[in-house]
Amino acid sequence: MEDLQHKQKYSRRDFISYLVSLLAIPVILWWLITGRRERTLSSGAKSISLGGDLPMGVSFHEGFVLIRDRDSIRAYESKCTHLGCAIRKVEGNELVCQCHGSRFDLMGNAVKGPAINPLKEFLVYQDAASGEITIQIK
Ligand code: FES
Repeated sequence: MEDLQHKQKYSRRDFISYLVSLLAIPVILWWLITGRRERTLSSGAKSISLGGDLPMGVSFHEGFVLIRDRDSIRAYESKCTHLGCAIRKVEGNELVCQCHGSRFDLMGNAVKGPAINPLKEFLVYQDAASGEITIQIK
């Protein structure tokens, strides 16, 4: 009888350990995915190198909206200023957040709500010799 209780207790402990392990997996994945991005964007003077091949127009790169025209390259955080969805779509001359329909012009200004604030802009440098493009994160 005592042996049976011990065995049952052991099984319950195993089940709880298994359940905790199972719940930990999505939490760790979420932390790795979002935490990595947060650490990258909130760190001090740091830069992200993009190489030299940035196409004309709008492109999306690891949390940034990059806009290259004849005279300049601009970089904005692709996080919508409404509730933080990733902006990954462009229609005409507007960036579109597909969560609730906010739109931003190519200067990062909100032109259609619900978002009212502009996208966060970052400084972009291009090395004259190598053509290397770097986003400076403050
Ligand atoms: Fe972009 Fe709501 S999060 S419109």
